[in-house]
Amino acid sequence: MQEDLFKRLVSHCKEYGFIYPSSELYDGLGGIYDYGPMGAELKNNIKEYWWKAIVQMHENIVGLDSAIFMHPKIWKASGHVDAFNDPLIDNKDSKKRYRADQLIEGEIDKLEAKINKEVEKARGRFENFDEAMFRSTNARVVEWANRADEIAKRLANAMRANDMADLKALIEELQIADPESGSRNWTEVRQFNLMFSTQLSNVAGEEGKLYLRPETAQGIFVNFLNVQKTTRQKVPFGIAQIGKAFRNEIVARQFIFRMREFEQMEMQFFVRPGTEMEWYEYWKAKRMAWHKAVSPAEKLRFKDHDNLAHYANAAVDVQFDFPFGFKELEGVHSRTDFDLGSHQALSGRKIQYFDPELNESYIPYVVETSVGVDRMFLAVLSNALVDETVPDAQGEDSTRTVLRIAPALAPVKCAVLPIVRNKEELVEKARNVFDRLKLNFPCQYDEKDAIGRRYRRQDAVGTPFCITIDFETMDNDTVTIRERDSMQQERVPVSKVVEIVREKTDMVRLLEGLG
Ligand code: GAP
Repeated sequence: MQEDLFKRLVSHCKEYGFIYPSSELYDGLGGIYDYGPMGAELKNNIKEYWWKAIVQMHENIVGLDSAIFMHPKIWKASGHVDAFNDPLIDNKDSKKRYRADQLIEGEIDKLEAKINKEVEKARGRFENFDEAMFRSTNARVVEWANRADEIAKRLANAMRANDMADLKALIEELQIADPESGSRNWTEVRQFNLMFSTQLSNVAGEEGKLYLRPETAQGIFVNFLNVQKTTRQKVPFGIAQIGKAFRNEIVARQFIFRMREFEQMEMQFFVRPGTEMEWYEYWKAKRMAWHKAVSPAEKLRFKDHDNLAHYANAAVDVQFDFPFGFKELEGVHSRTDFDLGSHQALSGRKIQYFDPELNESYIPYVVETSVGVDRMFLAVLSNALVDETVPDAQGEDSTRTVLRIAPALAPVKCAVLPIVRNKEELVEKARNVFDRLKLNFPCQYDEKDAIGRRYRRQDAVGTPFCITIDFETMDNDTVTIRERDSMQQERVPVSKVVEIVREKTDMVRLLEGLG
């Protein structure tokens, strides 16, 4: 069922101009996607929602737009040259490459799926079913749960210790086969660095090696002093940026969930050492509220990291219930003074903040919030796409596909539809209304096909309002305005249309709810 939804989503994205596979003329390029006309609008709205909630609404957070290319030493200092690796394994028969940790996680997922199936079976059998009791007492479920737990612990330990041999041993013990070919003929597991690199034209060899940034955060760290001095911000304060990031993912999969070129919205919040856990909790709550304003609460949860990254002393994921299960949507990390401290050490330049209240200098600690634009896009769309049965013009059942996107994020805010296209004065009036609306919102004019089909086209891209110009408009300067979700129509004066659409689609509504 969920798998079907995912396939539907991918084809819907292509059909309605949200997302196309990149380089499709040449059979595509793995893990790279292009955003079409609807996708570009939705993506911009997501970025605007983030930027306004983070930068515009906080006096002590400022924006930045740093370059993608940076001095290669930055990636040495940040630890990415040495530690930004994934464990790679090849199948010798199929020649396919996999992430060893993901193959092992796949086994844990299988055990969890077996447990869930057993729970659902029992739920159907017993009245007043006590799920917690069943999970803790049913012998088979307990055995599978313990097994999943053991595997997860061993995986976490091997990853923490960089023990590639143990990952290989675990794959052999679990008798994991290549998901495509069924072969168990594996190579050894080895570390694979995820950074893409290129070369400067005027410097030969290692010295001229440049990396495409794998996170936007380092651009913020290396500009900390510039920004603090030019804005005279006092700790605690934040620097935010939105930008492209690149990772040579071994297995790019699940559509735009794991890409090789993607976009991040990151904010580094600089705090006094010792206060970072308070700020960590503060930003966890803030970021969850931001997500809940546009997605249902039951699709969101926190998941603490089992494995802390080399820079963190606490880390949590905001997970979203995607069609393929709960997965990371955003990370909130307490990054200590690792990054600023490392840049200070490697550059030999002092990166300190003089705190006038304490009368002392220190390297600030950092709490980071980091969310992928593309993952947010996938979360919004997968939650919004609905096929529903509704009455047609004759009162018969018909199916409509509707994107129930929060109106403030919708790519097109309203569509103007003349009821017929062969009446010149009616079309002229519709064009007039459209010209007025397009100054205010992304708006579409559509006169082709029967009105019902035009409504369906707008439903499928999530347009919150359709404005129909009909014969009555010519008499009394009123139009009908149809709301996407309820399909209710109301007759209103033309002079009120801009106000009505703005009231419902303005991002201010979303931001007000965030407090
Ligand atoms: N600066 C911290 C950092 O980059 P991360 O957890 O590796 O942390 C943050 O990435 C967010 O970036 C993730 O929660 C996810 O939304 C997004 N992201 C990471 N890798 C991605 C990929 N390959 N494709 C799409 N989005 C990705």
